[in-house]
Amino acid sequence: MKRILLTLFSLLLLAPATADEGMWLPSLISHRIGDMRAKGFRLTADDIYSVNKASMKDAVVLFDGGCTGELVSAEGLLLTNHHCGYDAIQSHSTLEHDYLTRGFWARSRDEELPNKNLNVRFLVRMEEVTDRMAAGETADEIVRKAEAEGKGYKAAVEQMYYGNQQFLFLYEQFDDVRLVAAPPSSIGKFGGDTDNWIWPRHTGDFSVFRVYAGPDNKPAAYSPDNVPYRPRRHFTVSTRGVGEGDFTMIYGFPGNTQQYILSDVVKYIAETSDPMKIAIRTGRLDIIAEAQESDPALRIYYAAKHATIANAWKKWQGEVLGINRLGTYDKKLRTEARFAEATGDAEVLEELRKEFARALPYYYTRELLAETLLTLAYGYAEEEKADPLFAKREPTERALYRQAFGEYAARNNLLPAIPEIEAGIGQYGSPEAYADHIFGLAVNDPANGEIAALKTAVGKLHAEIVGRLGTRSLRNFNSARMNELYARYVEGLRRWAAAEKREGAMFPDANLTLRVAYGTVAGYEYADGEYHKPLTTLDGIIAKDNPAIYDYDIPQSLRDLHASKAYGRWGVEIGGRRTVPVCFLATNHTTGGNSGSPILNARGELVGINFDRTWRSTMSDIEFDPAICRNIAVDIRYVLMVIDRIGGAGYLLDEMTLR
Ligand code: ARG
Ligand code: GLU
Repeated sequence: MKRILLTLFSLLLLAPATADEGMWLPSLISHRIGDMRAKGFRLTADDIYSVNKASMKDAVVLFDGGCTGELVSAEGLLLTNHHCGYDAIQSHSTLEHDYLTRGFWARSRDEELPNKNLNVRFLVRMEEVTDRMAAGETADEIVRKAEAEGKGYKAAVEQMYYGNQQFLFLYEQFDDVRLVAAPPSSIGKFGGDTDNWIWPRHTGDFSVFRVYAGPDNKPAAYSPDNVPYRPRRHFTVSTRGVGEGDFTMIYGFPGNTQQYILSDVVKYIAETSDPMKIAIRTGRLDIIAEAQESDPALRIYYAAKHATIANAWKKWQGEVLGINRLGTYDKKLRTEARFAEATGDAEVLEELRKEFARALPYYYTRELLAETLLTLAYGYAEEEKADPLFAKREPTERALYRQAFGEYAARNNLLPAIPEIEAGIGQYGSPEAYADHIFGLAVNDPANGEIAALKTAVGKLHAEIVGRLGTRSLRNFNSARMNELYARYVEGLRRWAAAEKREGAMFPDANLTLRVAYGTVAGYEYADGEYHKPLTTLDGIIAKDNPAIYDYDIPQSLRDLHASKAYGRWGVEIGGRRTVPVCFLATNHTTGGNSGSPILNARGELVGINFDRTWRSTMSDIEFDPAICRNIAVDIRYVLMVIDRIGGAGYLLDEMTLR
């Protein structure tokens, strides 16, 4: 009786990977295919991933090492997000050719623009090597052997479940990737930071590239003689569109999740880490925003910096809100108690708690350094100072120094302060006065020994912390020892799940390896009466349009198009009016790195490009809530319409397979 009660109880508490939760390994997707088909998917596991025949995985790439992209033509045409192609677009932009502002449309293959340091990776195959490693082979040996197969593939061994499983991944990397098209930022970045992580959303967040290969269709360094790559597979594009309740699948490279962390770590994130980082970034953003409002040149100069700081800042606010709303900490505590009872391994949890308590001051101080002293340049190059803009920037840069030193001094309460800084603060009277002094040196005398000594001192503390944690990774709230303990804990969780016939229910945390997530197009009710519909349209863009607000100032061509309603084949009838779909919501479990991922319908056809989540669902990195967690995609019909009607680049559609 006790057992049965326990089992039921723990099922309720743990309930892992029900609903649309999960980021699944493509080579093991056969475990999920029954559930996928029950939810409407029409294809097979082999269609998603196969080593022997062309499959969907051959049309998905890791784009620029941190985003996802998808092939949409037999001639290497690739779609990703505007924010993923941003660096490339920016690098080709000049005052005369401002592609960021005006957009870029190559009129022929000759006009496609090569990019230094931009590559894409296709997954050739993945295979489990847990047994080989158990038999004594090292990851390095496995990688070396795989790469020695020839063909120039890049190999990597990645851990799943904290090392309980090891997989070898073989990639084919292409380094000649050219910019084909980008909408103006007023479409590709419409809504800017104001709308970032927000629904309703109207961002046309896409850009177009082409993968080039040598004449043998193999990877080659850039050469004018290279030819468009002929992929094994490209996605058919659906022009039929999506509706609420439709099956969706996302195929991409999610970067990092923390589904199995200890309750203490959840508490640390929600009560200490995120609030600290949010508060410090609020200060930085205020300083930068003030500068931006004071001068149009500064607004542009600080735009990218502001966007980068604001992105995680907003995400963390949603994460704290979500963790508290779900009661994730209490749930984890209860799960841990059940785990200890069911498996008898209370010790692993005790050890984890002890180790986390030991690591916490180091972890916290490292995060604090990363948000304060490590954000400063400690010197400005002569050419930077020669720029007339520098004089305008100086008060802002100085304020950022003062803020960084002030926050470090105020919040560094777990480890001894850096002696050089303590002495400096003592000598000058306050962290801010000392920051003024250092800033003065950074501007006028960057070679000064005092600057060098300070940099060395900060570096020394950082190195010591890394040593104490035994890991360089700031991603997973852990130490080397915690990693070992997590391996045992997560293995216990999996055995426990298996004993209760919940096997296959636990997915390995995201780690920038290729994953499948599936769900449906769906709105959500955040609170009583607060329902969000899953689809937005061009009418919403027009409603937001305001030439006086930078983030909402759309191109005249889009206004004209709306006024004429000459949408042609891209127009749809919604609620009795003619409009164009723009973005949609779905329940797919995604995270950073899924930007640019293809979102596919039940037939595996492309219906959109993923680019965001709602800010109030970002706790899904730790706990997924099927009721409110939603990813945001740009509707492929809007992408096609912008290419066709705004870019006048309809010839690009001719090489796609539209259905
Ligand atoms: N929130 C999205 C992501 O995490 C988009 C970020 C880029 N857009 C922006 N307005 N900053 O990458
Ligand atoms: N914009 C994110 C990215 O670059 C995706 C949003 C998310 O975190 O889900 O990957």
